[in-house]
Amino acid sequence: METSRALIARHEFAIDLAREAGSLAAGLRHSLGALEAKNPMDYATVADHAVETLIRQRIGERFGDPVIGEEDGGVPADLVWVVDPIDGTINYIHGSPRWCVSIALIAEGDIASGVIHAPDEGRLFSARRGHGAFLNGAPMHASHLGHGASPVVEIGWSPRRPIERYGTLIRRLIADGIEFRRLGSGALGVADTAAGLNDGYIELHINAWDVLAGIVLVREAGGWANDFLANDGLVKGNPIVVCTPEIATRLQTAMGTLAEP
Ligand code: IPD
Repeated sequence: METSRALIARHEFAIDLAREAGSLAAGLRHSLGALEAKNPMDYATVADHAVETLIRQRIGERFGDPVIGEEDGGVPADLVWVVDPIDGTINYIHGSPRWCVSIALIAEGDIASGVIHAPDEGRLFSARRGHGAFLNGAPMHASHLGHGASPVVEIGWSPRRPIERYGTLIRRLIADGIEFRRLGSGALGVADTAAGLNDGYIELHINAWDVLAGIVLVREAGGWANDFLANDGLVKGNPIVVCTPEIATRLQTAMGTLAEP
């Protein structure tokens, strides 16, 4: 099949799949079952596993493509799907609507497609490389600070980097006149940058399944993103900086060397 047609077919499939996966997760949240503690403050629910199984099954049936997923792993390939069945798992467990299914496709050396579905918020974000970014079908754009106020940046965190560094990061942002938030889903924090609902999202270390779909949304919405796939980011994760381009230098300066292992 011609490459662009193959990528269009996969993008359209990913939108339908994110809806189906989101419905499954939404249906399962009232019977959470046993929580699996993977690491301190890092859980998987029965739904995380069920949704990833569904996604793998559907991709396998339709395309036979390889998958890297948060719960069951996977290995890099020239064309590979990268999925987080539920991002914002702690929000999901607590009954907050801020959680989502995140599906990205890597092809031709970069992120080709990204779809994020937040069923409880009624939001579906989608972007295909070179073809714009959409929220519920309407074009979306980075803020470009058009609100005229101080920038607002979401800072994600996890115990994967020392908490003291996050303290330093917050102090640096505030000293530079930048407000911060922490809302509990890296994927949605990045998607909100694409939608102009925040001015950026940063975290000292995050995994590929949390942010790849969001990165293509941000790029297609006219925002700036660091080269997340550099230095084996697909396997090891990386620091993330996405933002409206006007504050890219300020955020990179604030991050400095804090993200180092
Ligand atoms: C986590 C969330 C969180 C981010 C963490 C991620 P999970 O993913 O996206 O907001 O700060 O780095 O690990 O566990 O909800 O899939």
